[in-house]
Amino acid sequence: MKLENTLKSFVQNRLEKSDILKNIYFFGKNPSKNLQNLFPDTYSGAKYFNSLMKLINFLSYRRSVSLRKKFLKNSKNVKIILPNDGFAKINFEHFKDFTEIIQQSKKILGDSLKKKTSDLNQKKNFLVTKNINVLENNFLPLRKLIKSNDFLSPITEYLGSFPILWSSQIWFSPNKKFTLGRSQNYHMDNEDYRQIKCFIPLEDINDENGPLTIIDANKTVKIFERLKKEKIIKYKHAKVSDEIMNKHHHEKKSIKLTAKVGEILYVDTSRCYHYGSRPSPKSRKVLFLQFFSINSRKVPVFQKRYNHNLLDEIEREIYKFYNPNYYFEKH
Ligand SMILES: [Fe+2]
Repeated sequence: MKLENTLKSFVQNRLEKSDILKNIYFFGKNPSKNLQNLFPDTYSGAKYFNSLMKLINFLSYRRSVSLRKKFLKNSKNVKIILPNDGFAKINFEHFKDFTEIIQQSKKILGDSLKKKTSDLNQKKNFLVTKNINVLENNFLPLRKLIKSNDFLSPITEYLGSFPILWSSQIWFSPNKKFTLGRSQNYHMDNEDYRQIKCFIPLEDINDENGPLTIIDANKTVKIFERLKKEKIIKYKHAKVSDEIMNKHHHEKKSIKLTAKVGEILYVDTSRCYHYGSRPSPKSRKVLFLQFFSINSRKVPVFQKRYNHNLLDEIEREIYKFYNPNYYFEKH
């Protein structure tokens, strides 16, 4: 018994000290879910994981790529999110139901905030989020926007395969408090090799609303490699304090993603350093949509597919792994 305990604490000690051993241990416990742990959250780790998933998901990946080709054939001006930038802003004032989408989202958020309904997620004190289910009947205008060529083509072109919608929320950032070491510090997101987060302003976002602030993809990779070489950070998701960032980057060269109602912001938060919702004079309200490729780290191998009874081929692909109820329970 004594020997067993000594062995146990020895193993625990080793696991705590070594990231590699820890990852192998978790992989052994649940291989399909934790396969991603074997790939570090770095540019090359993400690239290799992506390549492996292309092999494992060979058939669905090929289908996704050919659907992408077919979809892009019907679209013009698709190269809007340039790989060196990793972000773009597009005007959607011409879209027929855009105003209705904004009004509806504002009303839903307003009602929930007023009644303090239980489906509001307030885990972070600087961000209140409310999950919405785009597949419910009352979101038909938003659903139309999502599958439209104007909206989806830039994402489809940028990701290299057909995008899947992962989460859909309405965000309210009070912008009153600063929490150290959270997403109010520069960091990158680690869910995919490339991903696109869409921010649809429900009210104009200017310098006073705590806009999302980013560093373009090209500069970001250079900063990351330097910080890694100097052993300041190991991984992309690591939060970087302003003090350290200022030594490697002029804050003046950061981009404040301001936007008017009627515009949509597209950002690859996996390739652009970013922070959001810092204390500001005014709050911020946005409709938020997050798109991954089918090879995302968030889509576990052999994951159950949802919504395969949708009639439209494009929508079947977009909503393949979309389950807002699941997302709400787990996060
Ligand atoms: Fe983030």
